Amino acid sequence: MKLVKLLANLGYGSRKDVTRLIRNGWLTRRDGSTVGLDDAYTHEDLLVDDEPIDPAQGVLILLNKPIGYTCSTKDPGRVVYDLLPERFRYRNPVLSTVGRLDRDTSGLLMLTDDGQLLHRIISPKAELPKVYEVELAEDLRGDEAALFAAGTLLLESETTPLAPAVMETIDARHARLTLIEGRYHQVRRMFAATGNRVLSLHRSRTGNLDLSGLEPGQWRIVPRDEAEAKLFA
Ligand code: URA
Repeated sequence: MKLVKLLANLGYGSRKDVTRLIRNGWLTRRDGSTVGLDDAYTHEDLLVDDEPIDPAQGVLILLNKPIGYTCSTKDPGRVVYDLLPERFRYRNPVLSTVGRLDRDTSGLLMLTDDGQLLHRIISPKAELPKVYEVELAEDLRGDEAALFAAGTLLLESETTPLAPAVMETIDARHARLTLIEGRYHQVRRMFAATGNRVLSLHRSRTGNLDLSGLEPGQWRIVPRDEAEAKLFA
């Protein structure tokens, strides 16, 4: 791919902007030499303003989403894209969230520009376990784990029962729930079906990928071999 197209697709600016910037010597190699508009290049060797260039298409980002941010590009309030470099919004292909977390849910959220990877992660066939830490408004009744494990719970306005889910009791008002599906507001609706209310919700893990090392609002790129090992092995 021509350099100008590559940089424009990575969101660094319009083709006109990046042409001007390359002419001004803004793109260099790791050995310090300047890269010209028509030079051959290897992606890993390129530095933009002395920083490694962003990954090419096929990126997977892991974000520790704080509460108060929506998984949308259009919401007038705070959106998860606000937590990433501004140029990530202009990438082509676009970076999409892998499923969604509610505005008031925190924790593990992935974003990718790789449609096939996104599909592999969210496909019901993948049955990837997603782990949620739940705080409740009322004490647990005691029968929730059995109810969720039965695979018979039918949520309001749904026609198929939920797949069996595993609930561990932490204490009277805290539980850890592992789901293999991701229906709309699923955790909140499951506890609502038991007469309870979720006060706070945090996704701590998907497959074997967790948030180690990431404070709320922080993100990192997940290398492809790590994604394969922790999501699909
Ligand atoms: N279940 C919910 O209710 N909300 C989320 O954000 C994720 C799972």
